[in-house]
Amino acid sequence: MNPLRQHFEDRGQGQVFRFFDQISSDQQEQLIRQANAIDLDEIDTLVENLLKSSATQEAALDLQPANYLPVPCNRDSSESWQKAHAIGSQALNDGKVAAFTVAGGQGTRLGFAGPKGTFPISPVSGKTLFQIFAEKIAASEKQHQCTIPWFIMTSEGNHQDTLTFFEENHWFSLSAENIHLFPQGTLPAVDQNGKILLEDKHRIALSPDGHGGSLRALVRSGATQRMADQGIEILSCFQVDNPLVQCIDPTFIGFHLEKKSTLSSKTIMKTNAGEKVGVFCQQGEQTCVVEYSDMSQELQQQTESDGSLSFRAGSIAVHLFDRQLIEQLGGDHDSVTLPFHLARKKISALDKSGQPSSIDGIKFEMFIFDALPFAQSPMILETLREEEFSPVKNAQGNDSPESSKQDQLKQFARWLAAVGIQLPTDDKAVPTINIEISPSFADCEEGFIKAWNNLPTPPKVKDGTILS
Ligand code: UTP
Repeated sequence: MNPLRQHFEDRGQGQVFRFFDQISSDQQEQLIRQANAIDLDEIDTLVENLLKSSATQEAALDLQPANYLPVPCNRDSSESWQKAHAIGSQALNDGKVAAFTVAGGQGTRLGFAGPKGTFPISPVSGKTLFQIFAEKIAASEKQHQCTIPWFIMTSEGNHQDTLTFFEENHWFSLSAENIHLFPQGTLPAVDQNGKILLEDKHRIALSPDGHGGSLRALVRSGATQRMADQGIEILSCFQVDNPLVQCIDPTFIGFHLEKKSTLSSKTIMKTNAGEKVGVFCQQGEQTCVVEYSDMSQELQQQTESDGSLSFRAGSIAVHLFDRQLIEQLGGDHDSVTLPFHLARKKISALDKSGQPSSIDGIKFEMFIFDALPFAQSPMILETLREEEFSPVKNAQGNDSPESSKQDQLKQFARWLAAVGIQLPTDDKAVPTINIEISPSFADCEEGFIKAWNNLPTPPKVKDGTILS
């Protein structure tokens, strides 16, 4: 027997080669190549620790709410916020910051055929998520007179489509050599007994290794080396599904530098105890994010004397990473590495007789926020939900294209109200006309007021108006 096949057999994973004698020699080679890239020790450890062990993944008791820097009422005139803004602007001007989008997810809940970043989301012109980010990054480059390289993590499954999309759209006028796409790692999906699943007779069922896989993908793809060569020290990370995200926020960068943090995160206040977001917590000396599913009802509902939730600082997956922390956690050091989590999902895989089927399987994923306990002086900054967070997760209802478009419209309406223009709204304060403000015109309220006041003749705002 071929030694690789024997090796899988010896480790109890011989089913990977169950149909080997029924497939063509090309397909056999393909399967061997895939199998060769699998670290069976790693799979054994994951199955042993996460699947077979009786230990639950529940967070240990001793949790306290994490400290965070709250948004002051007078944010724009607050001395400390202005100072942070100036520090962050200088770092940008010095070329020390790059942008990073995690875009390797499978987007199953949205049910859109292409990569999620190619989903059209702006209310009038239907700009895609990627175009909105590209325009925001271009606007920051202009404001701070710098180049902001953009790293985008794709997956094996969507890499080519993402690349083609950027090529066809001429990199949205950014410079092609400053946008770096690279696929994240994969891990085999397994069944309830820890047996590796086959997607086809000649293909192992592989899944992306979670957004936390970005740290090792950044190192393995050479992205961190490229950053070092270009003098980039900070990576501004955000998810692909949030059109309101501030891709580059000078104030956030300023606080990160000022507090000598190696990993900073943005938080928004939970709207209710049951809201399904991860929460920033303190566990002894360490800061961490605890998933809502791992937090007891009692802690979720605990309140302070003023009635506010104790565990209220929700994570919106916006972080600043020092390059060195990524190198440390994403490199091949066994001692410091992110933990894996187990996700029970339906997997398209072959059943024992070789028939395509939907199997209750297991995926292994890393979460990017698990880097927090390894960070020095982690800083958490509050931001306002209505300004920076409206993700597109589901096809309908909460966090859907519809809710996200409404949130964009409400933001544009607030900015227009600040220059004295009131849009007609329905009883939920959603504008009843569709308008759009491009990031090239303004990417925040303050910038909007300036840009509007600089217009020689401000336009009449009506249904379909695009300010760009
Ligand atoms: P989600 O947790 O929303 O997962 O990812 P998803 O795969 O996109 O969507 P569902 O759960 O299948 O509906 C949050 C962010 O993390 C990225 C996603 O692209 C998104 O930006 N992500 C997730 C990765 O980059 N890689 C992964 O393996 C998982």
